Amino acid sequence: MKMSQAVPDDLLALDAPFVTEMMEITNYMWRFGWDERNGGNISYLLKEDEVKPYLDTSRVLRNIILDFPVKELANQFFIVTGSGKFFKNVTSKPSECLGIMRVSENGDSVDLLWGLTGDGKPTSELPAHFRSHIARLRQDSDHRVIMHNHATNIIAMTFTHELNEKSFSKTLWKMCTECIVVFPEGIAILPWMIPGTDEIGIRTAEKMERYRLVVWPHHGIFGAGNAIDDAFGLIETAEKAAQVYMLTSAHQGGIKQEITDEQLIALARAFGVKPNIDFI
Ligand code: 13P
Ligand code: ZN
Repeated sequence: MKMSQAVPDDLLALDAPFVTEMMEITNYMWRFGWDERNGGNISYLLKEDEVKPYLDTSRVLRNIILDFPVKELANQFFIVTGSGKFFKNVTSKPSECLGIMRVSENGDSVDLLWGLTGDGKPTSELPAHFRSHIARLRQDSDHRVIMHNHATNIIAMTFTHELNEKSFSKTLWKMCTECIVVFPEGIAILPWMIPGTDEIGIRTAEKMERYRLVVWPHHGIFGAGNAIDDAFGLIETAEKAAQVYMLTSAHQGGIKQEITDEQLIALARAFGVKPNIDFI
């Protein structure tokens, strides 16, 4: 589609629904206390047809080299949060805090098409995001969003609960009736690792082959989804369960009753979901 000559790209892009979505969700996440300072990041896979009405996709602002090649994502469009950008500020400074880019033909760089003004860079967790997108797309061609944040109670739980995927998942399932329906595959956990590296990206993506939620102990959580709401809803549900766990485990009287394994199985059957058989 030919761009309007009268409206510059930087203003037109602000009308794009995916930009508005990013502004709204980062604000929610910050208000929940999950994205202090620059904590957290989001990447959202866009269709070329969605981008073109709002941006001249032939106009490249600058090229950013990746030190982790992602050939599988060649020519794909993404909107991402910028490294070091405060979630609190995305709504007031969207073109500084967000960037729209396209992965190059050979997958070793990205062309910045809009945003990240003032020489901003995409999130430092781009290896984990891009590699997770590749893993999730292998499982689900409708996959679109990778979301990372520092969800408070999930982090708290990684100090007090054993870091075992089976018991961690089961504890979360038992904290709120809806959990097993929302994430029947359970939740994956990595060992503590240095963030922002390709190594943590590779390990996160390995987990994403089977799970849509990955916990980074003492750091935060990664969620994947077919839409912003989907990834957000997953994290929100796990975080709520973690909050209930932290509340009940701190209670002096201890837990007096809980959802039983039999009830979990009955729930899964009633809602037509298949829980991870290694966990129950
Ligand atoms: P960025 O500001 O580079 O996105 O990093 C924030 C973060 O949460 C690192 O894990
Ligand atoms: Zn983080």
